[in-house]
Amino acid sequence: MTTKQTQQMHACVIGDPIAHSLSPLLHGAWIKAANINAKYARRHATKKEFNQAVKDCFSDPRFVGMNVTLPHKEAAKKIADCIDDTVKQAGAANLLTRKNGQLYARNTDIEGFSAPLLKARTVQHWKNTNIVILGAGGAARAALIGALSLKPGRIQIINRTQARAQVLAEGFGDKVEALDWSKREEALADASLLVNASSAGMTGKPPLDLSLQHISGDALVYDLIYTPQMTPLLCDAKAKGCAILGGLDMLIAQAKPSFEAFFGVPPPQHTDVKGLLLQALGEVS
Ligand code: ATR
Repeated sequence: MTTKQTQQMHACVIGDPIAHSLSPLLHGAWIKAANINAKYARRHATKKEFNQAVKDCFSDPRFVGMNVTLPHKEAAKKIADCIDDTVKQAGAANLLTRKNGQLYARNTDIEGFSAPLLKARTVQHWKNTNIVILGAGGAARAALIGALSLKPGRIQIINRTQARAQVLAEGFGDKVEALDWSKREEALADASLLVNASSAGMTGKPPLDLSLQHISGDALVYDLIYTPQMTPLLCDAKAKGCAILGGLDMLIAQAKPSFEAFFGVPPPQHTDVKGLLLQALGEVS
C-alpha cells in the first residue's frame, strides 16, 4: 500500500439484472492499478428493494458510493438529498455518493457520451455541426444533452416511434427537431455525427435498418451499444471510411468520474481497460 488509509473502501453497481455488468471488471482493474485498498461489487436489487438496498449500503461507514443502472436511474434521483445539474437535465442519476453527510446524485452518462467525442475531435470541430440521434429512450436523452454541450448547429432526433422523438425534443429549443423515421437516411447527408441510441443491433436483436449510403466519410458514427462492440452499423461505417466510437468508449468514460468520486483519485491512465472488457465480451481488441 502506498497510502496510510487502512480501512477498505467499498463501492458497488446496483441494478436488475446485474450479473452481466462490466463495471466490477472495469473498476476492479483500476483499483488494482491504482493500488488502493478498495472493493467494488455488484448488487442485485429489484425496484421494490432499491431504496432499502441504498440505505443498507450507505449505513456502512466504509461504503463510498454506488453506480446505478437500469431500472433504478430515476429512483436514484428521487432518493438523493441533493442532485447536481446533470441529474436535473437528464431526469435520472447513475451515481450516488456522500456529500457533507448527505446522499448526492450525479449523472455521468452525459460526460460519458461527450468525452470520447472530444477525444476524437476538437471542441471547435463540433461547433455548428449537424448531429443525428437515433432512438428516444434514456440513452438518447443522455446523448442529446451531451450532444448539446458540443454546441452543434442542429440536432435531429429520429425514432421508430416518432411521437417519442417529439416528446424528447420538446423544451430544447429550435436547434433540436424530431424527424420522421422515413427521413433517417436522407438526414445523414449533412451529418457530422450519427449516434445510435436505439437498442437495434444489440446481440439478440435485429440490426438497425439503416443504409449509410448518404453519409460522408468525414462523419463520425457512434453506436452506444457494446454487446457486440462492433455492431453491424459500426462495420458499415468503418467500410465507408467513417471514424467510429462504440458503447465501450462511453462505458469507460462514464466510469472515470465515478471512480474519482468514490476513491478520490483518477483512474490510472495506463490500464488497458478496453482490451480487458473486449476480452470479457469474447471480442478481440
Ligand atoms: P433506453 O432507455 O436504454 O434507451 P428504451 O427506452 O427501451 O431504452 O429505448 C429503446 C430505443 O430503441 C427506443 O427508441 C426504440 O424505439 P421505439 O420507441 O420505437 O420503441 C428503439 N428501438 C428498439 N428496437 C428498434 C429497432 N428494431 N429499430 C429501430 N429502433 C428500435
